[in-house]
Amino acid sequence: MPPKQGGQDQDKKPSQRRRRGGKKHPKPDRAASPPPAAPAPAPKEKAPPCARGGRTNPPKKTDPALEEDSDVLLAFGALLKTGDAAACAAHARYEAHEDQARFIEDARRLLAMSAGERAATRAPPPGMAPPPPPGMPGSPRRAAAPAAPHPRSTSPRRPPGLPPGLAPPPPSVDHFPPGLAALALEVHSEAAPPPGLRPTATDDQDVAAALSALIGGPAPEPAKPKFKWVPPRVHKRRGGRVAFSAPDNTKGPLRPRARLDVSWELKVDAEGAVGTRRDVSVGLFRVGAPTNDAAIVAKQGRGAVEEVGLARGTVAFFAPRAAGAFVFRLLDPEPPGRQQISKMERPKASSNVYATSDKLDVIVRTHDDLLDSLKASLQQLEEPGRSRLGALQQLAVVAETLPASLAPKRQTHIGGRAGSTAEKRCRDKLRACLARCLDELAKHVPGPLTLATRRRADELPFHEDETETDVLKRERAWSVLSEEDEQSARDAFEVERVTKIKKQRNEDRRARDVHAACRRLCAAFNGNSASRQWLESAAPEQARRLDDVSTRWDALLEEFWPGGADGVAALRRHYDRADSFFRPTHQPSAQQHGFAWRALDDACARVLPQLFPGDAFFKRREEVRRRVEACLNNADVLGNGQRLVLRVFGSSANLFGAEGADLDMCVVPAEKTDKDLTSPEVCRRMGEALEQAGAKNVQVRDTARVPIVLFEDPATGLDCDVSTHNPLALRNTELLRAYAKVDGRVRGMAYVIKKWAKIRGINSPSDGTLSSYGYILCVLAFLQTVPQPPILPSLQRLDLDWPNPKDPNREPPARMPHPFDPSRDVCLAFHDPDKLGSLKDLREIAGRNRQSLGELLALFFRHYAWDVDYRNLVVAPRTACVLPKANKAELDCWPQNPHLAIEDPFETHYNVAHVLKYDKHQKIRKEFMRASKLVDDAAAQRIDPDLALDYICEPLPQEE
Ligand code: CTP
Ligand code: MG
Repeated sequence: MPPKQGGQDQDKKPSQRRRRGGKKHPKPDRAASPPPAAPAPAPKEKAPPCARGGRTNPPKKTDPALEEDSDVLLAFGALLKTGDAAACAAHARYEAHEDQARFIEDARRLLAMSAGERAATRAPPPGMAPPPPPGMPGSPRRAAAPAAPHPRSTSPRRPPGLPPGLAPPPPSVDHFPPGLAALALEVHSEAAPPPGLRPTATDDQDVAAALSALIGGPAPEPAKPKFKWVPPRVHKRRGGRVAFSAPDNTKGPLRPRARLDVSWELKVDAEGAVGTRRDVSVGLFRVGAPTNDAAIVAKQGRGAVEEVGLARGTVAFFAPRAAGAFVFRLLDPEPPGRQQISKMERPKASSNVYATSDKLDVIVRTHDDLLDSLKASLQQLEEPGRSRLGALQQLAVVAETLPASLAPKRQTHIGGRAGSTAEKRCRDKLRACLARCLDELAKHVPGPLTLATRRRADELPFHEDETETDVLKRERAWSVLSEEDEQSARDAFEVERVTKIKKQRNEDRRARDVHAACRRLCAAFNGNSASRQWLESAAPEQARRLDDVSTRWDALLEEFWPGGADGVAALRRHYDRADSFFRPTHQPSAQQHGFAWRALDDACARVLPQLFPGDAFFKRREEVRRRVEACLNNADVLGNGQRLVLRVFGSSANLFGAEGADLDMCVVPAEKTDKDLTSPEVCRRMGEALEQAGAKNVQVRDTARVPIVLFEDPATGLDCDVSTHNPLALRNTELLRAYAKVDGRVRGMAYVIKKWAKIRGINSPSDGTLSSYGYILCVLAFLQTVPQPPILPSLQRLDLDWPNPKDPNREPPARMPHPFDPSRDVCLAFHDPDKLGSLKDLREIAGRNRQSLGELLALFFRHYAWDVDYRNLVVAPRTACVLPKANKAELDCWPQNPHLAIEDPFETHYNVAHVLKYDKHQKIRKEFMRASKLVDDAAAQRIDPDLALDYICEPLPQEE
C-alpha cells in the first residue's frame, strides 16, 4: 500500500500531530501561506525572471535579502538540500555546539561564497553524511525547496485568515533536518517583533532592501544602521533563578521607589571552586521589553560559588518611580564601564537571559506617587525619541490600579474643592498628561477612518486588483518601449508596488497599536471608579474627548482585528459589536441568578445521562484495541518478532469521552527495546498491515516526528489513530482521569463544555480553534481557582504524602528528558488519589463547595468571557493559581498577545492553545460572551430559563 502523504488530510488534526510528538510550533499552512516576502534564491535553482524579457539579475555577493536571520536559514536550508559539503559541515557543527548566533554567522558567510569557494572550505567531518535526498527513507520531508517567488506573484493582499498587519506565517521548513527546522521557526517567530516594537523609521530601508532583492540593483547605502530586534532569549534554559522581596516582606504590588532585595542563583561549571567570585548583571525591565539594552536599571550582582555548581548573590534595588509591571532579568555581567558610555555608543547588552523573576507590580498609593507617575508619563510624551504609545500604556496602568482611597475629594462648595495641594498638583498634571495623550491620539484618528472607509469603498486598489484590461493596457504601453526603457518602467512599477505594500502594512499595524492603546486607556479610566472620578473632576473636557475618540476607534474595531472580509462579515452577522453589547452590568448573585442556575442545573441533569457513555462504549473500544493490536503483532510491524502493546489515551481513557469520540491509541513495546519506534518504517508497516486487514481510509503520516496512522475500523465504524510513541499523552490522560474522579461536577462540566464547543464550531484545531484537551484544561483551572472554596487542588502540587505529613526524606520528584526534545526535561509526577488512597479525603474537601453544576457552568462562561485577563495571564492547571504570561514570554518565547494561552501540565513550555490566531481567539471568547449573556437573559426572564441550555448549545446556522 503506498503511504498517503501530504494533502489536505495531512492537516486534518494538528493537535494529533503535536500530541504525537510533532513540532511545537504551529505548522505553516502551505496552501494558505503566501511565499515569504523576499526569500533568498535557492542555490542552483533558476533565478526568477525579473521581467517579461526573461532577463535575470546579476548574481550578487552579499544579498541584502539575507539580512534577516530567518532569510538566512531559508537560503541555508535550500543549500543544505543540495548536499553542499560545506553546508553539511556547518550544520553538523551547529548540532554539536547549538549556538544559534554562531551558526547563523557561519551560514551567512557560506551563502556569500561562490560554489568554488565553498568547496575549498572544510569537507564534512567523517561520518557526517549529507541529509538524504528527498524521497529516500529517513528524508524528513518531500516538500520542494522554497523557490524565490516571481516579483509579481508576491501578492500584497493578506493571506486568508491572517489578521491585517500581523506577522506573515512561518516559512516552510519541511525540507530542513529537524534541528534546523526548529531553529528556523524559532528565528522566524523572533524575527517578527510584537506590533509596535519595530520603529517605522526603518521601513524605507526594508523597502529598499526588498527592492534590490527583487530587481537586482546595487544594494542601497543604508541611511542609519538597521534596527535589529533581538528578543530576550533564554540560551541557557533553567540556568538560574532570580527573585525579589521587600525588606518588610510585603506581598503583592509595591509602591514606587520601594526598596527591594533581589536574590539570584546561577548554575556554574562544576570546576569552579567553592568560594570563588562569580558576578552577574541584574536588570530591571518593563515586562516584555524586547531587548536587554533598555534596562531601567542594571546592576552588577556580586556573588560567589556557594556550593559545587551553584553561585548565589543578592543585590539591592529600588522599584521604579512610575506604576507598571516589571521583571528582573539575570544576565551576563556587563562589560566594565558600559553604563558610563553614552547611550548611542553603548555596546549591546548580552542577550542571554539566565532567569526572569515573577512580575513586579508597582502601583500608586499616595498623591505623591500619583504625581510622580503622571510626571513620568508626561516626560515620556514630551521627550523626543521615546515611545508615546508606551506612555499611554503607562498612564493606563496608573488608571487601572488607582486605589479607591485616592479618589478625589468631593466638591465642598460651589467652585471650591476639598483636597490637599498634592491633590491639586495631581489634577493639573493629569489634565496636562491627558491633553497630550489626546493630541497624540488625534494625530491618528483620521488615519484609520479614512483608510477603512476608503478601503471598503474600494478606493485603495492594489495592482493585483487591476482588471485584465488594465493589465493588458499597461503591457501594451510597455511593449512599444525600447528594451531598456521597458525594463526601467517595470522596475519603477515594482518600486511603487512594494512601497505600497509596505505602506499599507505599516498603516494597519500603526492603526492597531494606536487603537489598542486608546482602548486600554479608556477601559482603564472607565473600569476604575477612582480614576473615572479623577477624570471627571479634573479634566471633564478631556474625558469627553477620550470617550469620543474611543467610540470612533471602536466603530472600526472589526476593520482591524479579525482576518479577512469573511471574518468581518461573520462577526457582523452574529454579534453586533459583541463586547459592549453583551457586557453584563453587575455581578451575578444567587438572588437574581438562582432561578436561572437551577434551571440550567436541571437541564444538565437531563442531558448528561445521554452524554455519559455506558459499558458498551468501553467494551467496543477495548475490542477494537485488541483486534488492532493482534493485527499489528501478526504483521510483525516492530520486526524480529518483537511484540507490542497498544495503549489507549485521550477521551476513550480519560473519563471525558462521549459516544462518537475517536479512539486514540499508541504503541508501547512489550519488552524493553532499542528500536526507534518513531521511525517512518514502523509507521508504514502499520499502515500496510491495517489496510490488508481491511481498515478503511488508512492514512499514514510517517513524516511527523512521531508518526501516526489514521483509519476507520471496518467492523464498528470507529475513527481510530495509532501513534508510535507518545508517553506524555498517556501520562496526561492519567492526570485528567485522576481529576475526573475527584468530583462528579468535574465530569459534568467537561461533558457539557465539550458538547457546547463542538456544536458552536469552536473545537477544531485544524480550523485554528481549541482542542477538547484545551477545553478540559480550562475547566480544571476554573474549578481550581474560581469556585469558593475551590473544588479541585492541583494534583501536581499536592504532596505525594497528603493527607499525611510530608515525608522530609522523600526525594523531590524526578525529572526525565523530554521524549522528543532532548534540550528539555519534564516532571511527570502527580498525586494520583486513586493509587495513593486519598480519594475519599479529596472528595470530602470538594464536597465543602455546595455550588450546583448549573451555577458552576454559568460562572465558567462568565469567567472566560469577562474575568480572565488574557493578555497577562496563562491558564495553568499545574499551578492552580494565576501564572503571569510575562514569565512564559520570557522563558519560553510565548508571544505576549491577548490570546487565550494554556500551559500544558507536563510540557510546561508548550501552549496548548498555540493554534489560536486573534480572530479564532475572538470567536471563542465571543461564544463565551454569548453563553454568559444567555444565562443573564434567563435570569432576567428575557428567555425561558428551561431552554437556556438549548439556546447556549444551539447549532450554528448551516453556512457557519
Ligand atoms: N493531547 C495532547 N496535547 C494536545 C492535544 C491533545 O497531549 N495539544 C493528547 C491528550 O492526551 C488528549 C489526547 O491527546 O487527551 C486527545 O486529544 P483531543 O482529541 O483534543 O481530546 P479528546 O479528549 O480525545 O477529545 P475528543 O472526545 O474530542 O476526541
Ligand atoms: Mg480523541
